Parts: sequence; structure tokens; C-alpha cells
Amino acid sequence: MKRVAILISGGGSNMLALVRDMTQAHYAQPVLVASNDPAAGGLAKAAALGVPTASVDHRPHGKDRAAFEAALAEKIDATRPDILCLAGFMRILTPGFIRRYEGRMLNIHPSLLPKYPGLHTHALALAAGDAEAGCTVHEVTAELDAGPILGQARVPVLPGDTEDSLAARVLTMEHQLYPAVLRRFVTGDRTPVSLP
Ligand code: GRF
Repeated sequence: MKRVAILISGGGSNMLALVRDMTQAHYAQPVLVASNDPAAGGLAKAAALGVPTASVDHRPHGKDRAAFEAALAEKIDATRPDILCLAGFMRILTPGFIRRYEGRMLNIHPSLLPKYPGLHTHALALAAGDAEAGCTVHEVTAELDAGPILGQARVPVLPGDTEDSLAARVLTMEHQLYPAVLRRFVTGDRTPVSLP
């Protein structure tokens, strides 16, 4: 059974969706939830579900990304994961780290890539007057938010939408998309998932 490590920075709602789906459908095993923030709310939620957790505070490492990533990789590799899922992980990773896991590292991004890589995706969609928005799961490569797309989920932008109302509608779809992509990814099938 494929072993899956999940990296988070905050509440970890996407991590929870992945852990619950793996636990219910037994297609993979969550072996670690790790965070760059020791106070990340998702760590306690993962522990409550019996998933091993770890954290490496990025702040003491300052601008030395490589040192932070070496400490993080050591904790990740100790659990021998086959797949790495970034889920609300908010640190930029260096090409060196990405090379260690390339081809088996996924990320979820709250826009319909290639539109709106980077931050503030919902504000940008609203400002552009887009009729629809959504989220993307992609393989992580050295170029930020630009790897091969493994799945997308679309939602309508509704009159009166705010950043928060749109983010909430997209987040609901993230929780459906990421598990659907992981189920397919563990079989070696790279055909993109499309929701709804
Ligand atoms: C979500 O919008 C996700 O798309 C982005 O981080 C936000 C929080 O994710 N990557 P989570 O609730 O911590 O999974």
C-alpha cells in the first residue's frame, strides 16, 4: 500500500479530507503529517486521527531555506513515504528539495491554473469578473504552481461574492478533488480528474 506524507502550515482541512479518505477506502496509508509551524492546528487534528506528526519551525533557519528543508526532509524520509502531498503548505520549496520528491509530490492550489499562480487567487478572480473559479491539483516542479495538472474542480462565481464566500465554495471542492486525484495517482494513472 502506498505510504503518503502530508505537509501543512495551518488548519489542515485538505489534510483531513485526505486522511479520512485513505482511512475509509484503504487505498493508501497516511504515514506522517508535518508542518513548518509547530503550532499548526492541523497537527493536533492529525494526532487525534492516529497519524504520526512532526514539525520543523522554519523561523530559526531565517533565510537558510536549505537548512530548514534538510531538517524537514530528514523527518519526512524517516517515515519512508512513496508520495508527498502539500496541503495548505505555505513555504516556497527550493529546486533541491523538489528534486528529492519530483514525480511523487502533489500540491493543491486554489485557482484554475494556469490562471492565478501565487497568492490572492480569489481576489484576482473577482477583480477580473470571472464567471467561474476553482482549484487545481498538480505535480510539484521547480516552477511555482506550474507542474503537470492532475485534476481541476470548477465552481461558479456568484453575484455578491466576496473573497471569503468564494474561498469557502472553492475549499469545499478542494476537499473532494484532492482525494479523488490521490486515489487515481496511487494507481499510476495520471489522467486528470475533472469535477463536477
Ligand atoms: C486552501 O485554500 C488551500 O487551497 C491552500 O491553503 C488553504 C488552506 O488549506 N493551499 P487547509 O485548510 O490548511 O488545507
